[in-house]
Formats: sequence, structure tokens, C-alpha cells
Amino acid sequence: MKLKYSKGTITTVKADSIISFTFSDENLLKETTNRLDKFLNGQLNALISAGDFKGKEKELAVLYPTNSTMKAKRIILVGLGERDKITLEKLRRSCAVASKKAQSLKSETIAIEFPDYSLFKDKINETLDYFAQSIAEASVLALYKFAQYLTDEEKKNKKVKEVNIFSEKESNEIKEGIRVADIVCSAVYFARDLANAPANEIYPETLAKAAVNSGKKYGYKVKVLDKPEIEKLGMGGLLAVNSGSSKPPKFIIMEYNGNPRSNERYVIVGKGITFDSGGISLKPAQGMDEMKMDMSGAAAVIATMEAVARLKLPVNLVGLVPATENMPSGSAYKPGDILKTYIGKTIEVDNTDAEGRIILADALGYAQRYKPTAIIDLATLTGACVVALGYFATGMFGNDEKLMEEIKKAGEKTYERVWPLPTWDEYDQLIKSDVADVKNTGGRWAGAITAAKFLQKFVGNYPWVHLDIAGTAMLDKEYDYQPKGGSGVGVRLLVEFFRNKSKKK
Ligand code: BES
Ligand code: MN
Ligand code: ZN
Repeated sequence: MKLKYSKGTITTVKADSIISFTFSDENLLKETTNRLDKFLNGQLNALISAGDFKGKEKELAVLYPTNSTMKAKRIILVGLGERDKITLEKLRRSCAVASKKAQSLKSETIAIEFPDYSLFKDKINETLDYFAQSIAEASVLALYKFAQYLTDEEKKNKKVKEVNIFSEKESNEIKEGIRVADIVCSAVYFARDLANAPANEIYPETLAKAAVNSGKKYGYKVKVLDKPEIEKLGMGGLLAVNSGSSKPPKFIIMEYNGNPRSNERYVIVGKGITFDSGGISLKPAQGMDEMKMDMSGAAAVIATMEAVARLKLPVNLVGLVPATENMPSGSAYKPGDILKTYIGKTIEVDNTDAEGRIILADALGYAQRYKPTAIIDLATLTGACVVALGYFATGMFGNDEKLMEEIKKAGEKTYERVWPLPTWDEYDQLIKSDVADVKNTGGRWAGAITAAKFLQKFVGNYPWVHLDIAGTAMLDKEYDYQPKGGSGVGVRLLVEFFRNKSKKK
């Protein structure tokens, strides 16, 4: 799909559907009506008089031009609710719903009339370019379909070919916002595709290939360590989790140096379990298929590397992905095993289904080699985090208030919101082991926190944030601009975080 920006008006733009926004306030709705009814022979007024359209949030009216002054087939008018209560997220959601309506009407080309920014400015405290970026992202992200494996031509072809955002006056800020949105959306699509791909397609080798191809295409370095190299490094955690699988593990290292003169370097780490059966501590059959998405953290990290490189952000960034399946077999690791990790610390395995933290232990230890300014890891780590926060917030843990505050801000702006949970010392006693340095489970309570406390033992004293995306990365149903399944969460959050980092320099 092509995302573009052009100069135009509702009468000059050609498209299968034009999306136009309106507030519900009486005077503003009246203004919309007067403006549009010129081409609609009073249809909108009739609709409103009949009480069939009020301009409420996400409310839709599909209207058909009655004279030839308009080039478009139809107008999809979407409500935004009251102007006083507008937020950027409400605008995104309305835009998403209208875009999906256009898609369901088989539109190949969608044009979005850029709304009058002066009506939003006092309520939405964002720059014009971010305002434009948000509109474009909402539309493109809403149109995502995981259709690669459908052979039915009709379903396959139900694809929007172009989203054209137009405004009467050309604006460099709008243009810039749309340029960024285009790169961000294609990264989110990439992350969603990786997450949704089944485990027979995406396993450590193919996941690594996806990273290698992306690096080649967009100019960042990718090195993939094979099993012998992983053995040589002494990554006993990754090797143990891998031991039940017939597919070898990979350790993916990505490097982008956007600011060679700076000593600052961020390391992002993603959990890359390409399928989590639970291993010997086998999961129940119900819902096990979802565990093809247990590499959503890895997908977010690879896609973020791609977006940051394409945006040429002036930051130095390393991406690390330990990748393996977690499978039961005669050679699988077992409860009771004691493992030695990359930094030398030992782990007592209490439950082989708490595998994410074990492979992350090696990756976080490896991250310390870079003497990083900060480490950020993303992982579909615990069911407990889903119990605590549901689908609407990523759990955040860390050892550095300032870093957490910056991530929280990026979360509010992108609406990939994070919520802090404590990492107090008291929780340490729950993961004490009698036979090793740490145990890989913490018992029934505070499961998301004990997992984070486990990870903390492997980050040294470096500033670190752990994001538990178990609830936000895989969705049970679609939500406006998020499809069912892989959401691609983390990409927009991290890109925004690194864009802020580059502005401050
Ligand atoms: N990948 C799962 C966590 C998960 C569960 C993600 C549900 C998304 C949805 C993880 O590896 C896991 O199995 N965690 C266990 C840990 C427990 C054995 C301590 C869990 O949460 O039950
Ligand atoms: Mn597991
Ligand atoms: Zn897992």
C-alpha cells in the first residue's frame, strides 16, 4: 500500500472513498453540513434531521455525491464527538474506523481530508507534524491484514492500494509527519507479520534471515551467531531452553550507528521464543497456538532497528535477540536442572515454561558488553502481567526513574501505554534458590514482578527497563487500528523514545 500526501480539495481529489471528519457540536456540525451538502443535494441535512447522524465519536455516515463537481465515489463522514473533549487518540480511532469502512466497501483508493488543525490545537498539545503522523498511522495501521497465506483471490485482493492525505494548502509539517508515518507503519506491519507468521514458517533461522534482509535493505549491521558460537560464549540459558527443539538456536545482533561522535549507546533486547509449548512443564492445549507469537518482543526489536535506520535517527542502537523454540523431548531441559549463564550466574529451573527469562538472562548479560547508556527489553514474559493489566497497558519495570519517565511519556504520546509495577527488594526472597544463584519461578503471587526481579540480576548496574508485553502484543480481537493477533506493540513506543533522544542532542 502506498501512503502519500497531496495538495487538493474535496472536489478535486479522485478516490473510491474520501474520509472527512466532523465534531458533534451544533455549530460545527452545521458548518460541515453546509459545506458538504453542496455536492450531496441535502442528503447530510436529511440524515441529521432524521436523527441518524450526530457526529459522535466513531459514528459513520456514507454519502454519495449527486453532481459531478466531485471526483470521488463517496464520502465517509466520521464523527469526533465534542470539540472540547477531543484527544489525539479519539481522532486516531475515528480515522481507523472510517478507513476500515472504506476497506469493507472495497475501496482501492482512500483519500483523507486533512482536518482543520486550528480546531484541535488548544486541546491536542502536539505539533502539526505529529498530528499528521497520527492520522496517517491510524488509517494505515487499521487497514492491516494478515493475508499472506490465503489463496482465495477475492479475499487476497480486498486490499487498499493507496491512502492519500490531502490538504488545500501544502504544508511541509504535514508532509514530514506523513513521511515518518510511512516508515513507522511499514515497521509495525513487519513486526505484525513476523508475530502472526506460524511457527513452521518463523523459527530461529528464518527469524534471523528476516533481520539479515532488513539490515541489508536499510543499512544496519546484522550478525547471527550459530549454535557453536553460542556454546563458545557460554550462553547456558539459551542452550538449555533450546535443547528440546530440533531447530538450532540463533543469537541475533543488530547494530546501527547513527551518531558515531557520541559515546551513548542504547541496547534493546527482544524475547525470541518462536514457539512456546512450555517444554517438559507442558502448557494445556487450549490457546497453545497463540504461543507462535512468543517472539513478539523480538519482532518489535527487529522492526524498531529497521525504522530507526530508515529514519536515520542520530542515535547508536544495538538490538539483541536470543531465538529458540521451547519444546519437550527426550533431550529437553528439565525441572531441577541447574544452568550456567553467560555472566556466570547459575539458575535453578523450577518450571521449563518460565523460559523467556532464561534466554533473556544470557542476552541481558551480553548487553553489558556494550557498556550501554540504557538497556530496554521487551518480552511476552508472563500471564500474570495479563492478569494485572489486561490488553491495554504494557507492564513496566526498571531501576532508573528518569528512563522510566521518558518511556512513560513516549507511551502516552503514541498511546502504546506502559504502567509501572514495583521492583522492591522484598520480592527477591521469592526467587531465592537453595542450590543455585536464582530460581526461575517465584510462586503464585506477583508473577510479573518476580520475573522482572529475575531479569534484574543480569543487567548489572546499567539503567534498565523491562517491558512485559504479554497482554499488549497479542490481541484477542480487533481494536480500531489494532488487528486481532499480533499488534506490533513496542515499535511506535520505541521509535518515539529514540526520536526524543535525537531531538535533545
Ligand atoms: N510466554 C509465556 C507468557 C505468556 C502467557 C504470554 C500468556 C502471553 C500470554 C511465558 O513463557 C510463560 O509461560 N510464563 C509462565 C511463567 C510461569 C511458569 C512462572 C506463566 O506466565 O504462566
Ligand atoms: Mn513459557
Ligand atoms: Zn514464553
